[in-house]
Amino acid sequence: MTNFQVAIDGPASAGKSTIAKILATKLNFVYVDTGAMYRTITLAAKKNGIAYNDEEKIKKLLSQTKIRFEPGTPVQRVFLNDTDVTDEIRSAEVTNNVSVVASFADVRSNLVNRQREIANSNSVIMDGRDIGTTVLPEADIKIFLVASVDERAQRRYKENVAKGITTDLETLKHEIEARDYKDSHRQISPLTQAKDAILVDTTGKSIDEVVSKIANIIENKISF
Ligand code: CDP
Ligand code: CDP
Repeated sequence: MTNFQVAIDGPASAGKSTIAKILATKLNFVYVDTGAMYRTITLAAKKNGIAYNDEEKIKKLLSQTKIRFEPGTPVQRVFLNDTDVTDEIRSAEVTNNVSVVASFADVRSNLVNRQREIANSNSVIMDGRDIGTTVLPEADIKIFLVASVDERAQRRYKENVAKGITTDLETLKHEIEARDYKDSHRQISPLTQAKDAILVDTTGKSIDEVVSKIANIIENKISF
């Protein structure tokens, strides 16, 4: 079989990375978490004392920023140059500023090139916001994963509780809505459902139900 490409896009906390990771293990495909790449550039800006809206300085930072993934349990490890930043890129500060950094043209073209390179030499499940529309427009399967904003905020809330982080549900909901708005309204590659993407609504659905639905879609296509 030649390289196979699965694109999973959708708003924050729709379940993209959870579902993509399980499917990648099941199918022995490489999982590419493109959001982690945008988060890592955002963290690099922070570590270098660069303001998140300083497009020129962030542009210069790109050539000095190596991003590497390593397999890990329970989560894939993410490295910025040689530092493990797996936890740091999930901080509230990075989460609330990543959409600004991700709106810059040079950041997008640089990371899109890195993402395509991985997909050229591996069968991939790639999740993000613009995978089906821009990064892999010829992907074999495109999924657009959604869930109600209330359910997505609940999911983040539970994740925070499990990590011992105290947050307010309404604040989380507003943060998710603000990020979705920025991601859907930016000029370059905004979050949008590709015309040929299959819409999967995960509201009220368990992880197992969603995995089995998408696994069926993929297996049908592979055996076709
Ligand atoms: O996991 P979560 O939904 O919170 O977000 P993520 O996938 O880690 O992505 C973090 C941010 O990176 C998004 O809110 C977007 O601003 C940006 N992003 C993007 O612009 N394009 C992508 N392909 C992936 C993420
Ligand atoms: O990657 P994305 O931001 O789209 O979402 P995620 O980080 O994979 O999922 C956010 C949270 O929702 C995780 O804690 C998942 O375990 C949970 N989830 C769920 O409860 N039910 C689903 N059908 C999918 C995800």
